[in-house]
Amino acid sequence: MNPLLQDAAQRAARYLAALDARPVHPTPDAIARLAALDVPLPARPRPPEDVLHELDTLGSPATVASAGGRYFGYVVGGALPVSVAAHWLATAWDQNVASAAGAPAAAAFEQVALRWLRELLGLPADAAGAFVSGTTMGNVCALAAARHAVLARAGWDVEADGLFGAPPVTVVVGEEAHPTLFKALGLLGLGRRRVQVVPADAQGRMRADRLPRLSGPSIVCLQAGNVNTGACDPFDPLCAQAREAGAWVHVDGAFGLWAQAAPGLRALCAGVAAADSWATDAHKWLNVPYDSGLVFVRDGAALRAAMAVSAAYLPAPGSGPIASDHTPELSRRARGVDAWAALAALGRDGVAALVERCCAHARAFAHGLRAAGFDVLNDVVLNQVLVSFGDAGATRALAARLQDDGTCWCGLTEWRGRVALRISVSSWATTEADVQRCLAAMLRLAGAH
Ligand SMILES: Cc1ncc(COP(=O)(O)O)c(C=O)c1O
Repeated sequence: MNPLLQDAAQRAARYLAALDARPVHPTPDAIARLAALDVPLPARPRPPEDVLHELDTLGSPATVASAGGRYFGYVVGGALPVSVAAHWLATAWDQNVASAAGAPAAAAFEQVALRWLRELLGLPADAAGAFVSGTTMGNVCALAAARHAVLARAGWDVEADGLFGAPPVTVVVGEEAHPTLFKALGLLGLGRRRVQVVPADAQGRMRADRLPRLSGPSIVCLQAGNVNTGACDPFDPLCAQAREAGAWVHVDGAFGLWAQAAPGLRALCAGVAAADSWATDAHKWLNVPYDSGLVFVRDGAALRAAMAVSAAYLPAPGSGPIASDHTPELSRRARGVDAWAALAALGRDGVAALVERCCAHARAFAHGLRAAGFDVLNDVVLNQVLVSFGDAGATRALAARLQDDGTCWCGLTEWRGRVALRISVSSWATTEADVQRCLAAMLRLAGAH
């Protein structure tokens, strides 16, 4: 075997095997040593094995151990070993999956992964889909398709003529929409601020009784999985009202849409399939390597109208799947390979078990924290737990001690005016023993034991 690749594989395996014994957040020393990287651009070539050695010795200790089982920050998935292995192989292939014409194998794996994902997530079998970098870009693609469709119905060609002079588009968002949704709206010229905001209930779900009366070109943005509470909007009544008004319904389902893959959780997303578009992540709950997100659009023609690119030197429509007609990029990596490998290895039952296991771990955290007398601020319906350790100062201090302690890593948030430690269980690697070990650390550092 190529000694360099063998060396990389051995270093990677050593890294992963050592995760359990190291602090989750890198030590200040390890981070300080990164300064050694900051040297002038080398004038002359160096042996590749020296380069790899430097990458490993400087880089590996300064990583956040989010590939292990005790990282609960943001909503960060680990990476299933099979998807890491597939990712390596696909990296060796180095395919540019702009189209099947240029990358037949990678495009075929991607198409099968998309079909499996539509089935797993309960989305229409004929919806167009594509892999993108994350839900942020999934939202951009879906909302670009929405913008196209609602303006086309009003007789306006937004791709050709832009938004100057276009009929106004009403955009409705929930009070608890994720900040990246606003970023997507801003990028598309729909405006971060010119939205109509619908109030949310105590768990962050959009209130269906407060959806404004809609007329003219309208886009309603719903959410599956509030980034703090995990709550999902009531899709059934919201989609029904929006559809009656002829509005396009988009769902930001970065992680919450995965409730659809778990029979015990599917009720949370009841009615979500009635929407027009969906964005979600594979790098969160499917546990494939970063980065990997998805967009699905019921009206594939609208997505293609927004994204298509053509030139005499590019493959013509009809020559096989053309990813670059469904995504903002032309050149792109083979994200579908990692997802295909994860899905092929887990199967439907394995994905359901992974999602349900994370939620069971979240409930165990909530149970242990409540039993010790701490306030869990949300209904733990999915994988998110918000806990207060007293007033804002006490909770912030606990978070700092926990992060320094290194047993696990959780971030802070604010929920309904209260500062909370935010625990997001999103990794295949988290075990019951991890949960008990982390819970014990939290309680010890909070002075509860
Ligand atoms: C609800 C929601 N939407 C969008 C995003 C952004 O996803 P990404 O970072 O994959 O772009 C997140 C990230 O946590 C999220 O929770």
